[in-house]
Amino acid sequence: MAKSSTVARCAECGHIEPRWMGRCPSCEAWGTLHEQAPVTAVRSARSAHTAMPISDVPRGEHERTPTGLAELDRVLGGGLVGGSVTLIGGEPGAGKSTLLLQASHAIASSGRTVLYVSAEESPSQVRLRADRLGTLSDALLLASVSDLGAVLGLVERHAPALLVLDSIQTVSDDDTAGTAGGLSQVRACAAKLTRIAKARQMSTVLAGHVTKDGQLAGPRVLEHLVDTVCELDGDRHHALRLLRATKNRFGPVGEVGCFEMTGAGLVDVKDAGRLFMGDMLTPTTGVAVTLACEGRRPLACEVQALVADSTLGNPRRTASGLDAQRLNLLVAVLEQRAQMRFTNCDIYASSVGGLRVMEPAVDLALCLALVSSRTNVPLRRDLIALGEVGLAGELRMVAQTERRLAEAGRLGFKAALLPAAYDGPAHSLQLLRAPHLAGALGHCFSTDATSARAATTDRWSDPNA
Ligand code: TYD
Ligand code: MG
Repeated sequence: MAKSSTVARCAECGHIEPRWMGRCPSCEAWGTLHEQAPVTAVRSARSAHTAMPISDVPRGEHERTPTGLAELDRVLGGGLVGGSVTLIGGEPGAGKSTLLLQASHAIASSGRTVLYVSAEESPSQVRLRADRLGTLSDALLLASVSDLGAVLGLVERHAPALLVLDSIQTVSDDDTAGTAGGLSQVRACAAKLTRIAKARQMSTVLAGHVTKDGQLAGPRVLEHLVDTVCELDGDRHHALRLLRATKNRFGPVGEVGCFEMTGAGLVDVKDAGRLFMGDMLTPTTGVAVTLACEGRRPLACEVQALVADSTLGNPRRTASGLDAQRLNLLVAVLEQRAQMRFTNCDIYASSVGGLRVMEPAVDLALCLALVSSRTNVPLRRDLIALGEVGLAGELRMVAQTERRLAEAGRLGFKAALLPAAYDGPAHSLQLLRAPHLAGALGHCFSTDATSARAATTDRWSDPNA
């Protein structure tokens, strides 16, 4: 008979190793592996379950409860679905508790019972915030417990339509090993809550902390358990907060909601189209505009560059809100393919308003901003630039070009600089097409060629022409 040996299971992440080790190779925690008998799963075939043709399966109507915040509803796909579990992730200070308290209040005001469990803050701290936000309502019940059993007891007693748990990392379940916030605790708590939510048709919203690398605190491990995952994101130094749905079983993904953090909490931003722009009137050097797509929502975004003579042996290149690697690459392409010179120049590039634009659609606008700053020639302010720049200096189409152009037309821009491959509608814009970066620069800077050429010679000649 084969001798049954033990295996070692990590109390943090549940990883199983054939033998005991000091450190878990999966989550890299020390001293978390414990020996246990291996699980031998022998299951008998069960015949009680049936399968049916997909066309006979009832559709099932999802009742949605609006949250009182139009931008949150937009991201969720029209409100919270009964029985669904939503995870709102974000760095500490992003505004998760604020958002959840405001939504709880709006739902409680419509006569439904909301149970807001804060495991991080005392009831009086939450009350203080509620006073500030003006979110007091008798149907909004507040509790401060960190034991999952106690939370479930409260759910049993009050039968809320919505349970808010702030945050999933601070509750712990007695039946599970590990510390609160550890992977196995977070996973076990979320799994139990999900079961209860489905059984009671109770909407559940979990707040979860995400650190910069998105790893440590656990929400990533919950993504497959919950129905909807939203991330609240925003620069600490700006009032703007963006809410993105990265997973949504009941609505669209890629939708983005824009909020402003004010003294009275989060406020919907009505027309986000112009949020990331200065005024369109004053011509300024080193400034270009593109339409960044946040999910499916195009946002006009100003890109700025400052090219200055450097006194450093190793000139500085910094990018804020933009991809630093991409900046280096584009500078190299401008030098090699468009005969620009940035030697001995410090280069600073930035997006405006705290928006992070990492997509390649911003390439062309960034190149225009760099050249504009380098040559001291401002761009016309009613122009938007859209295009990815390849290593050969060729311009490539970007995803959703037409949607972006439509938004640019709506916002009152007059011209669009595009890759030559675009053959869609103009949306009342003058289309300036170019196959190559050098050609695109010719469109923008040729009118002021005298001053531009004074700075560098032969700058706009297209190597492919
Ligand atoms: P909070 O919702 O506590 O963030 P999280 O739960 O994600 O950690 O609040 C985040 C920040 O927002 C906090 O630094 C204070 C600020 N804030 C306001 O500016 N106005 C307000 O009305 C509130 C409630 C908070
Ligand atoms: Mg909080």
